[in-house]
Amino acid sequence: MSVHIPVLVKEVLEYLNPQAGQKFIDATLGGGGHTQEILQRIGANGKILALDADCGAVEKGIKLFSGKNLSIVNANFGNLKEVAEKYGFLQVDGILADLGLSSDQLENSGRGFTFQKDEPLDMRFDTGLEISAADILNFYSQDELKIIFENYGEYRLAGQLAVQIRKIRKKKPFKTTFDLVEAVRQVQTYQGRGRIHPATLVFQALRVAVNQELEVLANFLPQAIDLLVSGGRLAVIAFQGAEDRMVKVFFRTNARKENPNLKILTKKPIMPTFDEIKNNLRGRSAKLRVVEKI
Ligand SMILES: C[S@@+](CC[C@H](N)C(=O)[O-])C[C@H]1O[C@@H](n2cnc3c(N)ncnc32)[C@H](O)[C@@H]1O
Repeated sequence: MSVHIPVLVKEVLEYLNPQAGQKFIDATLGGGGHTQEILQRIGANGKILALDADCGAVEKGIKLFSGKNLSIVNANFGNLKEVAEKYGFLQVDGILADLGLSSDQLENSGRGFTFQKDEPLDMRFDTGLEISAADILNFYSQDELKIIFENYGEYRLAGQLAVQIRKIRKKKPFKTTFDLVEAVRQVQTYQGRGRIHPATLVFQALRVAVNQELEVLANFLPQAIDLLVSGGRLAVIAFQGAEDRMVKVFFRTNARKENPNLKILTKKPIMPTFDEIKNNLRGRSAKLRVVEKI
């Protein structure tokens, strides 16, 4: 069973508008919430290709959707075209990417995605990747660490934290999430209820670096557009500033060039309603942007 609650489901379905017999790609299967809804609408003659870099999500998905008309693949969406070609999805009606991590990974992976549990500092979606979060903390230079916290977490005290990490690791290498929480605490104390815990931004930044999330997203976007039929739609849900900006700029650049190949359907990003956030706090930073291929 997945503990992940899918975000912006109604809005994703409204924009992607899946119809019986159509072909879709879910680039981020996760707990399968969005896939399940799309599957219901495309019916027995439709098809879905669902990817996830995390083999745990893929194993669960295969069980959950057994006997259904979809292909579930353990792959990185940075290689979308290659995977789509292999599975016969070179012309599709819609693509969804719901970025970041699922609540299943946060709660149950044991890979150190949350600062609330003491776990090994891993943070890889795909455990086949070579560099873990602990490797970055123990071996990257102080300047590289500062850039990670600044660029991927927009963390105000990036420089001070990088200095602190260098001091700490001289005495003892970083191993678990609580080692990092303690380093954050040494530069900034949590101000209390209602405020974002500073470790949230630091953990997010490190995860983005481990999984090279911005580089992968930059590779994914043009490949996704290539795979759409004319009139096909791409929906991207981003949870952090740098990713959302990348999506926005990519969409605008392609919609405003001399011979545009995209039409923007969401002038402003779509965000969850207050009611949705009440039931699913994780959705509070979600931003959905959608384009249609011309
Ligand atoms: C927010 S969850 C998706 C939740 C899903 N939409 C649902 O309704 O359950 C994001 C998922 O994308 C996966 N993921 C992140 N980056 C990926 C990448 N580059 N390639 C493939 N999967 C990726 C994560 O492992 C995670 O399972």
